Amino acid sequence: MGKEFSITPRDVPHVETKYRRIATQIPHPDSLPTIEKLRELEPQSMRGQPPIVWDKAEDITIFDKYGNRWLDWSSGVLVTNAGHGAPEVKQAIIDQVNTGLIHNYCFPSEERAELAELLTSVAPKGLGKVFLLTTGSEATECAIKLSRAHGIKVGGNKKIGIIGWERGFHGRTLGSQQAGGMAGQKSWIVNEDPAIITAPFPDGYWQTDTSFETFLAAVEARGMKPENVAGVIMESYQGVGPDFAPVEFVRKLRAWCDEHQIVLTMDEVQAGFGRTGKFWAFEHYGIVPDLICCGKGISSSLPLSAVIGRAEVMDQFAPGSMTSTHTGNPVCCAAAMASVRKILREHMTENAAALEPVLLDGLRKIQTKHRDVIGHVSARGLVGGMQTLVRGKKEPNHDLAHSIIERCMWKGLLLFSPVGAWGQTVKIAPPLSIPREAMEEGLSVLAEATDEAVAAMA
Ligand SMILES: Cc1ncc(COP(=O)(O)O)c(C=O)c1O
Repeated sequence: MGKEFSITPRDVPHVETKYRRIATQIPHPDSLPTIEKLRELEPQSMRGQPPIVWDKAEDITIFDKYGNRWLDWSSGVLVTNAGHGAPEVKQAIIDQVNTGLIHNYCFPSEERAELAELLTSVAPKGLGKVFLLTTGSEATECAIKLSRAHGIKVGGNKKIGIIGWERGFHGRTLGSQQAGGMAGQKSWIVNEDPAIITAPFPDGYWQTDTSFETFLAAVEARGMKPENVAGVIMESYQGVGPDFAPVEFVRKLRAWCDEHQIVLTMDEVQAGFGRTGKFWAFEHYGIVPDLICCGKGISSSLPLSAVIGRAEVMDQFAPGSMTSTHTGNPVCCAAAMASVRKILREHMTENAAALEPVLLDGLRKIQTKHRDVIGHVSARGLVGGMQTLVRGKKEPNHDLAHSIIERCMWKGLLLFSPVGAWGQTVKIAPPLSIPREAMEEGLSVLAEATDEAVAAMA
């Protein structure tokens, strides 16, 4: 985990197709001063991504200043569901700026009212309240707070337990990171809240026992009784796979939460807004959560997140005591409304569903060819992943995932750096506007890059 990409300019073969163009050394030598300035001025944690200095991004294409263009399979980390720089989103931002209102704190605005109405209209019935925030971490942190406050209200001071999942991710703030399950990234939390625990996530690959009884036993083994649990927070699919829990498991979880007055939050920060071929990914389970956390793809651009939920859970804090300075910034609201409406109008969720078999088939072909180093592939809608292994062992292989992504970059296909608890996953997440032809071209590039990376393995 945590390997850096080389920034030494490299001669790479010329590429020229409808979707990709690589015509210079990569990275371009003239981009180095910018990369070096960032390395000097930012913490090293910011160095993880492929060293391409983005100049412009349009729909499914990323451009640098030097005539190169990449087919984008990152969506800027699952943000640009409606495409990069969607004209409607850009226009909505410009129009909002031109109204003269670009900030209003928590004072009322038409934009916040309109977006809240739009979000509740796309949420399941009963989830009728919306709290707008800025980042996904803030939304999950808020869900933890609401769950705990609700637990105390209905069950007293001992009903404060929060259950997250091993290998899960809900953000990098104190509560959200504790509820996540990236054990290796939590070393800074020296006084972990003992009432926040993680249970084994039933992904069927790293955790092969996917029974609900195992979950119950794990909760008990970690010293928590159901009557002391206030909330469960779960990614609708675990981002590191992407991996879904078994449908039956989540239905039992919903029933267990109902039985014990536990708030169930589905974290849709990366899964929402059509990504998986359903508008919300929890729809795959046929359940309705009490709270939805969302962000990223909500606006396809500017920072905005939301908690959407049942009034009984959302209405626990007195006026003025659950707010945020930038909550529902009007420009961000305008961008979000344009993005959500575009996703709905242009049936992008349906496009994601239609392309799922193409993506899954492409990944399975790569796995079949390299079964000893590609342990697990998965795809739902337009999010997919390929988990790499040390040859012949069920051990994560960060170096191989890294090398595949680097080779894709040299060929004009842009992915973000490997994800997963051990940095073993090559993750695929193009904008939902991608046509089938571009998807197929990307898959052949990924196959080629994998062949070369495997051949180059020590
Ligand atoms: C499932 C999930 N939850 C929460 C977050 C945190 O969002 P943010 O980075 O906007 O704080 C992320 C970000 O990757 C995420 O994938």
